[in-house]
Amino acid sequence: MELRDGDPDRYGGKGVRKAVDNVNRRIAPLLKGHDPSHQAALDAAMIELDGSPNKSELGANAILGVSQALSRAAAESHGLPLYAYLGGVGAFHLPIPMMNVLNGGKHADSGMDFQEFMLYPHGAPTFTEALRYGAETFHALKSLLSKRGLSTSVGDEGGFAPKLKSNEEACELIVEAIEAAGFRPGEDIAIALDPAASSFFEGGLYRLTRSGQGNKTSEEMVSLFETWVKRFPIVSIEDSHDENDWDGYKAITKSLGNQIQIVGDDNLVTNTRFIAKGIEEKACNAALIKLNQIGTVTETISAIQLCRKAGWNYVISHRSGETEDSFIADFAVAMGGGQIKTGSASRSDRISKYNRLLEIEAELGGAARFGA
Ligand code: PGA
Ligand code: ZN
Repeated sequence: MELRDGDPDRYGGKGVRKAVDNVNRRIAPLLKGHDPSHQAALDAAMIELDGSPNKSELGANAILGVSQALSRAAAESHGLPLYAYLGGVGAFHLPIPMMNVLNGGKHADSGMDFQEFMLYPHGAPTFTEALRYGAETFHALKSLLSKRGLSTSVGDEGGFAPKLKSNEEACELIVEAIEAAGFRPGEDIAIALDPAASSFFEGGLYRLTRSGQGNKTSEEMVSLFETWVKRFPIVSIEDSHDENDWDGYKAITKSLGNQIQIVGDDNLVTNTRFIAKGIEEKACNAALIKLNQIGTVTETISAIQLCRKAGWNYVISHRSGETEDSFIADFAVAMGGGQIKTGSASRSDRISKYNRLLEIEAELGGAARFGA
């Protein structure tokens, strides 16, 4: 739980003076004199000081900021880059970027019910080349949209937000853009989706209102994605169902889980309790990992360890509301899962992560490996 001031006269109530004050007056004395490389113990001490079940007392924004600063401080004091400090000598695996080039749902005032349509340049030989594949396709997509008189302004995660006729049209356009940029759909660049179905689930039905595609039951959503996977080069679907529709997640994992990645985000929230349930119930085969869903570096690593143990994939992710901080770039390399979701090829809050990954790949030189 992020702690916001709630003072309507400052930043519409979203100010963070209380959280900053908690860092300076309550957390700082707790940590003073300790070695920052004792990450797990210090994260646990902050959780204990907070005392609430959801970090609402000190604010998860206060705790996570400090938790990440501990990692950075420890890396500095060891004279190591952050990825090498967090990941050790095995940290040489650059992630495939999931690049969200068409933004819908809550992230944009577009015609799409589904939130994210992403490029997945898994056929590239290196991260540096993957980014180029993605950036060139993003610009090819821009030209296609302009030619059709559609808007090329961008949504929260830096993807375009045109008023399209249907959710399918977004996939069609992406395939066209991949080809126009000179790449092979499927082989060089595949598609990843995050419908974020909780955002259009109401009264037991999935309401595809924006696109005018009517209401769908949980089972009909499974059928829809079965059709899509046959029609488009889709390799990953996140949040195909509402966060509480575990039967829906189970059904799609049963049907498509041996062909593609089924990622849980809103249902798992980077929390080992829910990830354990997901593993037990075979509700997904991968988890989205967001540091600020759980609130410390240590707890995030625990979530990843649980995924690894179950043979699940994991994708290190940004948020729609982001900063320019590039921690997750180093974190993705350190954790070695081979996938990162950090937006399109625009907006500095997204690009900062890509720039950092370019830097890391260059620094690793011949030792770098790319892919999932
Ligand atoms: P959010 O979206 O940061 O708005 O939750 C990202 C996602 O759904 O993966
Ligand atoms: Zn999501």
